[in-house]
Amino acid sequence: MLRTATPLLVLAGSAWAALQVDLDSPSSIKTAAKLVAQDLMAYYKGNDPGQTPGILPGPPPAGDYYWWEGGALWGTMVDYWHYTGDATFNDLTTEALLFQAGAPQNAYMPRNWTASLGNDDQGFWGMSAMLAAEMQYPNPPKDQPQWLELAQAVFNTQASPERHDNECGGGLRWQIPLANIGYDYKNSIANGIFFNLGARLARYTGNRTYSDWADRTWDWVVGVGFMDEDMNVYDGAHVEDNCTDVFKAQFSYNAAVFMQGAAFRYNNTNGTEQARWKDRLTRLVNRTIEIFFENGPMVEVSCELPDRITCKTDMLSFKGYAHRWMANTAQLAPFTHDVIMAALRNSTAAAVKSCSGGANGRACGFRWDTGTYDGLTGAGQEMSALAALTSLLVDQKSISGPVTNSTGGTSVGNPEAGGDPNPFPSAPPVTMGDRVGAGILTALMLSGLVATMLWMSMGWSEVEPPPVKRRGRMVLVETGGKFW
Ligand SMILES: *[C@@H]1O[C@H](CO)[C@@H](O)[C@H](O)[C@H]1NC(C)=O
Ligand SMILES: *[C@@H]1O[C@H](CO)[C@@H](O)[C@H](O)[C@H]1NC(C)=O
Ligand SMILES: *[C@@H]1O[C@H](CO)[C@@H](O)[C@H](O)[C@H]1NC(C)=O
Ligand SMILES: *[C@@H]1O[C@H](CO)[C@@H](O)[C@H](O)[C@H]1NC(C)=O
Ligand SMILES: *[C@@H]1O[C@H](CO)[C@@H](O)[C@H](O)[C@H]1NC(C)=O
Ligand SMILES: *[C@@H]1O[C@H](CO)[C@@H](O)[C@H](O)[C@H]1NC(C)=O
Ligand SMILES: *[C@@H]1O[C@H](CO)[C@@H](O)[C@H](O)[C@H]1NC(C)=O
Ligand SMILES: *[C@@H]1O[C@H](CO)[C@@H](O)[C@H](O)[C@H]1NC(C)=O
Repeated sequence: MLRTATPLLVLAGSAWAALQVDLDSPSSIKTAAKLVAQDLMAYYKGNDPGQTPGILPGPPPAGDYYWWEGGALWGTMVDYWHYTGDATFNDLTTEALLFQAGAPQNAYMPRNWTASLGNDDQGFWGMSAMLAAEMQYPNPPKDQPQWLELAQAVFNTQASPERHDNECGGGLRWQIPLANIGYDYKNSIANGIFFNLGARLARYTGNRTYSDWADRTWDWVVGVGFMDEDMNVYDGAHVEDNCTDVFKAQFSYNAAVFMQGAAFRYNNTNGTEQARWKDRLTRLVNRTIEIFFENGPMVEVSCELPDRITCKTDMLSFKGYAHRWMANTAQLAPFTHDVIMAALRNSTAAAVKSCSGGANGRACGFRWDTGTYDGLTGAGQEMSALAALTSLLVDQKSISGPVTNSTGGTSVGNPEAGGDPNPFPSAPPVTMGDRVGAGILTALMLSGLVATMLWMSMGWSEVEPPPVKRRGRMVLVETGGKFW
C-alpha cells in the first residue's frame, strides 16, 4: 500500500522511525521483535567471507565481544523462533551452535578461545543447546552432535573431578585453564550455570544424577555465602582467602540463572522437596524484582549508576538473560507467573522507549528508565530488547513450556558425552597444587612488559591488569553501586 506522507507525518518523521509496539497485541510484539532481531543480526558477521561462524565480532581487541556472547546470542534466537514462529534466522543459528561446538570433542571448548574460556563461557553455549532441546528447535542432521548431547557434554566436563577441587569446600572455579587470569576466583555465574544445566538435564532426561549435582551446587553456593538468606546473589570470591572475600556486586544474570534453575527443580519435584524449592523460588523472585526492577524498568544496578555507566560490554547484555529466564520461570512455576509477568511487562514497555536511536531511528539503548534512547547501542542492548519483547509472548495459547524426553522432546542424548575436561596442552597436572601453580603463573604474567603483551594477545585487554588482586572481568565495577 502506497501512502503519501501528510505534513503531520513528516513533522513526526523521527518518531515514526522509533520502534512502535502495542504490548497487548502478540502480532504487534512479533512485528517489533522481527525488526529488533534484524538489527541484532546486523552485528553478526560470522557468515561474511573470511569470518568465523558463530561468534560476534571479537574477542577484544579484534572486536567488542567475547566468545561466550555468541553462545548467548543463539539462545536468544532459539527463544525468538520459539515464541514468534519466525524461522528466518534458524539456519544461521544451527550452523553457529554446531560450528562452535569444538569438534571432535563437542563440549564447547574450541581451542581458539581457550584464553578466555571460563566455565561460564562454556556454560552459556551449553544452556543454548539445552534450550534448543527443550523448545523443540529443529534437530541437527543425524551425523552432527545433537542438542541434548551437547548440553550433556558441557555438564559432564564440568562435573568431572578435575573441575571440582576442595578450595573453598568445593564448587567450580571461574576459569577452566589453569593459566587464565581468574582461575583463582570461584563465582556465582559459573556455579549458577552448572546448577541450572543440572536442574534442566534432570527434568529432561529423568536422571537424578544431574539433580543431585544441582542440589549440591546450590547448597555450596549458599554455604560459601554467594547467596545470602535474603536471596541476594553476590559475584564470587578468591580461593586464596578460602572464598571469604565475597565480592558483593549483584548482577542480574546471577540471580536469574539461579531463579530459572530453581524453577526447573520446583517443576521436577514433589512433596517436601518441592515445598523447599517453592519457598526458595518465592523469595528469589521477590528479591530479584526488588533489586533490579525497583521502579519498573530493569536497571543493572551494580554498574548502571544514576550518574554514569560502568558496565563492560558483557554486562550490557545481562538484562536480556534476566527477562528470558524469568519468563521461563513463570512457565515452569505458575505460582510466580503474575508477579513476574507484571514486572517484565513494565520493564519491556520501558525498553521499547529506548529504541529510537541510530541511523534507522530504532536502535535500542542501554538505560531503560529514562523514556528515551541513551546513545549506548550494541549487540547486547539489541539482544536485551529482543528478549524483553519475546518474553511477553509466553502466554499465547500456542506456546508450550520446556518439554522433556517424555513430553515431546526428540533430541537424542548421550550420557557419556564430553570427553577430556581439561584438554589444554600446556596445563601441568592439577595434582601438583593448582593453587600455588595459579599464583605463580599469574604473578609471572603480571610482572612486566612481556606480561602486558601476553595479556593483550590472550584477549584480556578488556580489563586493565588489576594491580593488587587478580580479579577478572567483574572487578572494574566501581564502588558506589547501591547494594554493596
Ligand atoms: C579458529 O580460528 C581459525 C583461524 O582464524 C578459524 O579458521 C576457525 O574457523 C576457528 N574455529 C572456531 C571453532 O572458531
Ligand atoms: C573454607 O571454606 C569452606 C566453605 O565455606 C569451609 O567449609 C571450610 O571450613 C573453610 N576452611 C577453612 C580452613 O577455613
Ligand atoms: C509427583 O507425584 C505425581 C503423583 O504421584 C507423579 O505422577 C509425578 O510423576 C511426580 N513428579 C515428580 C517430578 O516426581
Ligand atoms: C516481596 O515481598 C514483600 C514482603 O512480603 C512484599 O511486600 C512485596 O510485595 C513482594 N514483592 C513482590 C514483587 O512480590
Ligand atoms: C511500572 O512500575 C512503576 C513502579 O512500580 C509504576 O509506577 C508504573 O505505573 C508501572 N507502569 C506500568 C505501565 O505498569
Ligand atoms: C511444570 O511446567 C509446565 C510447563 O512446561 C507446566 O505446565 C506445569 O504446570 C508445571 N508443573 C508444576 C507442578 O507447576
Ligand atoms: C528418552 O529416554 C529414553 C531412556 O533414557 C530413551 O530410550 C529414548 O530414546 C528417549 N526418547 C527420545 C525421544 O529420545
Ligand atoms: C545418568 O547420568 C549419569 C551422569 O551422566 C550417567 O553416568 C548415567 O549413565 C545416567 N543414567 C542413565 C540411566 O542414563
